[in-house]
Amino acid sequence: MCGIVGYLGKNDALLVLVDGLKRLEYRGYDSSGVALRLGDKIECVKAIGKIANLEEKLDGKERKGNLGIAHTRWATHGEANEVNAHPHSDCSGKIWVAHNGIIENYKSLKEELETEGHIFKSQTDTEVIAHLIENFYRGDMAFALRETLGKLKGTYALVFIHEDHPEKIMAAKMGSPLVIGLGEEETIIASDVSAIIARANLVVYLDDGETAEIGNEDIRIFDSAGAEINKEANKIEWNSEEAEKKGFPHFMLKEIFEQPESIMNSIRGRIDIEKGDAVFEELDDFADVARDARQIAIAACGTAMHAGMAGEYMFEEMADIPSKIDYASEFRYRTPIIGKETVLLAISQSGETADTLAAVREGKKRGATTLGVVNVLGSTIAREVDACVHNRIGLEMSVASTKAFTSQVAIMALLSVYFGRQRKMTSADAKVILNELFLIPEKIKKILELSGEIKKIAEKYINAKNFLYLGRKYNVPTALEGALKLKELSYIHAEGMPSGEMKHGSIALIDDDFPTMFICLKDSVYEKNISNMEEIKCRGGRIIAVATEGDEKIKSVAGDVIYVPETIEPLSPVLATIPLQLFAYHMAVLKGLDVDKPRNLAKSVTVE
Ligand code: G6P
Repeated sequence: MCGIVGYLGKNDALLVLVDGLKRLEYRGYDSSGVALRLGDKIECVKAIGKIANLEEKLDGKERKGNLGIAHTRWATHGEANEVNAHPHSDCSGKIWVAHNGIIENYKSLKEELETEGHIFKSQTDTEVIAHLIENFYRGDMAFALRETLGKLKGTYALVFIHEDHPEKIMAAKMGSPLVIGLGEEETIIASDVSAIIARANLVVYLDDGETAEIGNEDIRIFDSAGAEINKEANKIEWNSEEAEKKGFPHFMLKEIFEQPESIMNSIRGRIDIEKGDAVFEELDDFADVARDARQIAIAACGTAMHAGMAGEYMFEEMADIPSKIDYASEFRYRTPIIGKETVLLAISQSGETADTLAAVREGKKRGATTLGVVNVLGSTIAREVDACVHNRIGLEMSVASTKAFTSQVAIMALLSVYFGRQRKMTSADAKVILNELFLIPEKIKKILELSGEIKKIAEKYINAKNFLYLGRKYNVPTALEGALKLKELSYIHAEGMPSGEMKHGSIALIDDDFPTMFICLKDSVYEKNISNMEEIKCRGGRIIAVATEGDEKIKSVAGDVIYVPETIEPLSPVLATIPLQLFAYHMAVLKGLDVDKPRNLAKSVTVE
């Protein structure tokens, strides 16, 4: 996903900008560029592919400046090439713009501007912004920006600089994140705090409709009506060390191994074991809503959607409240029946996923109370929902989400208790779940010890071109999540589905070249799963089973078995997913692939 970095300060702007871009790499991108003020001119350099390519192009000439903007682009309009890479300029070459988001009316704007004589170089929507600013510029950057914004429909986080203003960066936000970092005699503006943490720990988050004028002396922020406002700076909770790999070869492996701790952070202080209740200080005024709610509508994408599926099962089974999960991308298009007595639960690690955010807004429009489960505090979803539970798992750098999933499922369990206790759930029933949650981190540690064993299994299956992932009940989401991990990391085709559904078509695929990963735990659907495994085995299919410790019987059906400790059914996805994360990780490493930045993917998808 696109990333923005802007810099104004006493240090070497180019160094800061390139460093910032690198810190945004994990979001995914296909080209990058930088516009730097050198003397009284602005010079722009762009490159396709990795930032190393940009560095190579920058090599060989000294570029000492104190002001600049930079961008990593994830193509939406126009192919990934140098011309389409940001920053973009106007006809005069004096105005330079970097932008995240999508300008929906760019075509009509472009036509108008072309009729007026503007010459466009790229196929991007962003370039219209540069030409609009040029149109409105009469010596005042703020005025030109305000007039330009009035013409735009869509989403943007944008920064722009002008050759005639050696000490100014203008910024604006609508729908895409933008944050200003206040360092020592320097200001860094970025689309993501991870580009800032190395240099500043005080930040100001811009809200939709706001603009900022960053100067050497001061930073001025304006609301959508153009009135200057005072905004408080927040302290960033993450340090730059957290963004490093801590000795692991990949962020993903580091994050997989962080799960005992991250789960603990997610539940810490949220369990009242005496009363048998879940306590969320951020849900202060929410008890009545939880008691009176007639349904929970859940919207999320990708991995968060799988955690939401586990939540859907939990809310119905444990909290006795009707619940329905949606792909957030479908939610607003399928006319969901929701209203005042609906809680719309949005789950999003980044808090910036465009579809999930749109679902929140749709929910609000229809009168629902919105509740977020979000990892990034200060993110758009966290700020827009009526109440928000924070995952507290720290930065997740790897594009493939791991510790966010297990934390989200743990929070689903806590929320089920929270809602359930306002309704029919007894304290004794709640205590079963809450006590087990405390045991989960130790159980995860035991599974992590199996990493070497799982790697050996991966070696056996490394040539497989396809995989089926099967599970039942709470482990349907586990199967979907396991398949997603394998696809995104190792580029092996994988399908996840309920094991009972496999007979209705997919079984036709099974032969000895089409292995199955079967989540078959000692739970209420164990015997059913065993029957499905037999059906696969007698058709020549090879099976890897994720099974409960002590289950010897399963070895007569599955060729390979990975054991996980016993737990209660609702929490079983937390444990059963970990071997699948490790399996996908080892497959990708064995294939020599870029584990932390799989091709074509983005960490945070901020466009629809
Ligand atoms: C992207 C990421 C996935 C993630 C999904 C939802 O597609 O690659 O790993 O699950 O977005 O992200 P969110 O930040 O909303 O949880």
